[in-house]
Amino acid sequence: MSATAKKKALMPQDIRARKGGVPIVSLTAYTTPMAQMMDAHCDFVLVGDSVGMVLHGLPSTLGVTMDMMILHGQAVARGLSRAMMVIDMPFGSYEQSPQQGFANAARLMAETGAGAVKLEGGRHMADTIAFLVARGIPVMAHIGLTPQSINTLGGYTVQGRDAGAQAVTEDAKAVAQAGAFAVVLEKVPEKLADVITAQVDIPTIGIGASAGCDGQILVVDDMLGLFTAFKAKFVKRYADLGDAAEAAIAQYAKEVRARSFPAAEHVFANTSPAQKDRK
Ligand code: KIV
Repeated sequence: MSATAKKKALMPQDIRARKGGVPIVSLTAYTTPMAQMMDAHCDFVLVGDSVGMVLHGLPSTLGVTMDMMILHGQAVARGLSRAMMVIDMPFGSYEQSPQQGFANAARLMAETGAGAVKLEGGRHMADTIAFLVARGIPVMAHIGLTPQSINTLGGYTVQGRDAGAQAVTEDAKAVAQAGAFAVVLEKVPEKLADVITAQVDIPTIGIGASAGCDGQILVVDDMLGLFTAFKAKFVKRYADLGDAAEAAIAQYAKEVRARSFPAAEHVFANTSPAQKDRK
């Protein structure tokens, strides 16, 4: 590859083609450094509206705005060259009508360079999904537990248990039929996730679903132990970076109070050093 050639980013078609193949790997990201760390390892990176809770301290995703999504989307885009970027449509930016959805999805794509948008909802969002796809906007659907609807769902509860299984299955079929290139299944029973994965021809991306899904996603701050306000059962902690960061901050505070930081190697002499020591 020449020094100037840029690696081609994955596209929705590449993700779609992974149905039934090697599992699709994805995480959320909100900043450039995190996106850079993920680029070689993830197939797509989601700029999730979870940013409101994990970075901005909001109590739910409902307060997230288009401007917040665009700012974080632009930051993530700067860190990716291979992985596809998918960006969440925030609450209130698409539910009113397909036209409203198109205007805001087009703005998200144009201002961030995302390869696709994600929106929450099954059968009732099928018309909007079809409208967007027909106008050049690839859509990832999100069904099961849809956090933007916690007030009507009654909380962050498992969706699709017992008689509820049929509704979630119909949602999956409706979004696939409408042209979504993949569907996130959040917090649905394992067996139901397996049945849906077998019944729809687009990849299922599980979060609190099943290892049998076509791919998995987690919120990065959850899996790194950076967001510790609560931990859902489906989160596996791969690191405890929050604890490590707090220990480092405590050590810094101790050293500042003891005047042991800065030490000799962190301060500057009066006389000019030799060229090699100038930093
Ligand atoms: O916003 C988000 O992080 C998400 C994932 C949980 C799928 O939608």
